[in-house]
Amino acid sequence: MNEPARIYQFQTSGKIIAGLHAMQNLGPELRGLGRINKALIVASDAMRRQGATDELAARLAGSGIASETIGGVMREPTADHIEALADRIGQEPFDVYIGIGGGSVLDATKLLSVLRTNRLRVREMIGTERIPHAGVPTALIPTTSGTGSEVTPNAIVTLEEEALKLGIVSSRLYASLVVLDPALTLSLPRSITAETGMDAFTHALESFLSNKANPISDMLALESIRLLSGSIVSAFHDGHAVEDRSAMLLGSMFGGMALAGSGTAAVHAMAYPLGGRFHIPHGAANAMLLPHVMAFNMDSVQDKLRRVASAMGIVTEAGASADAAELVVERIAEWTKELQIPQNLAVYGVQSSDVPVLAEAAFQVKRLMDNNPKPMSILDIEDVYRKLLPRIEYACKEGDASL
Ligand SMILES: NC(=O)c1ccc[n+]([C@@H]2O[C@H](COP(=O)([O-])OP(=O)(O)OC[C@H]3O[C@@H](n4cnc5c(N)ncnc54)[C@H](O)[C@@H]3O)[C@@H](O)[C@H]2O)c1
Ligand SMILES: [Fe+2]
Repeated sequence: MNEPARIYQFQTSGKIIAGLHAMQNLGPELRGLGRINKALIVASDAMRRQGATDELAARLAGSGIASETIGGVMREPTADHIEALADRIGQEPFDVYIGIGGGSVLDATKLLSVLRTNRLRVREMIGTERIPHAGVPTALIPTTSGTGSEVTPNAIVTLEEEALKLGIVSSRLYASLVVLDPALTLSLPRSITAETGMDAFTHALESFLSNKANPISDMLALESIRLLSGSIVSAFHDGHAVEDRSAMLLGSMFGGMALAGSGTAAVHAMAYPLGGRFHIPHGAANAMLLPHVMAFNMDSVQDKLRRVASAMGIVTEAGASADAAELVVERIAEWTKELQIPQNLAVYGVQSSDVPVLAEAAFQVKRLMDNNPKPMSILDIEDVYRKLLPRIEYACKEGDASL
């Protein structure tokens, strides 16, 4: 329920252009931002190899905008890596930073933009609203569907020494321009389609159930859930289906808008230590945790999960039955199997002896844990992690070798 006295807000990136081949409009749209003579393109080596950065540079040149490219952005970047990229850019003046890639590249681009204009280390930006000065304007072009980073005020960094991932949240990180072109996502391999798609779905579902949910984030979250439910499995099986790719890209952006307003919750809090300590890809970690955390939450959010069931097309609003909430959890568990996402953490080297440390780290991510609709104790968190460890391993550790 959204009690009338609560104040909520909505903010998003400056301008969004969307649709198949929307990239064609990039040059003129950039010119609309003001005096743009020289751009810095930020990308991963994979994007460079695919020719996406050369194509982008040629497009900019066609609009009279010179550019340079900085490649080599790592997956799930560390704070040190981002600072090393900033050193490579140095003091060279660029009118806009253009990030083209998945969430890793978009987050790196956002941070590079504010590192240029603030005398702060990345670590000093961690937390909420800790960046005093506006950055270089950014244009963000997502190639995964995805993190929704193109419309969030967030950037996530890995801190290697603490084996953790942490969030930087600041209105200084909103992009000036976003281009959503599903053509760029056609090359996504199946496993990345699955993992990043489940990340997007998790954003929508957690935002909808969040303690900070509000009418604006609810609308965006439900539409995101509808779009992603109708496309994730088919895009996994046929990556060239443009309609599904379009639905996923739009769904992931709506998920990002929803989370910017109401926040993610326990699934994300529990995914961060898995990423920081065991380098489990962000989407895969979320996908594994999602059905188990939802099963834990279920009795507190029955009504909301019925609305989710309706958005997912499992039951109609009118016919939403008492067990609709269970059907949602079942459907999510079925997806993770069909999308071939591992069902246990041992695949990534996690052992039952790691569970207490993981649970403590997740419990400390208060920014997100506080949003969870049902409070989780450290023992509740441990229980969920243990559900993702193969039975045989902890059965033996508990001294019952007969299992
Ligand atoms: N800022 C936010 O709001 C937010 C939200 C959720 C997650 N994140 C963060 O984003 C990062 C994950 O981003 P991601 O899930 O998009 O993955 P990613 O950016 O790490 O990319 C995954 C892999 O896919 C490749 N790839 C990307 N686009 C491709 C394409 N079109 N064709 C072929 N290969 C392609 C990349 O090169 C990379 O190897 C994590 O660090 C996560 O914590 C940020
Ligand atoms: Fe996420």
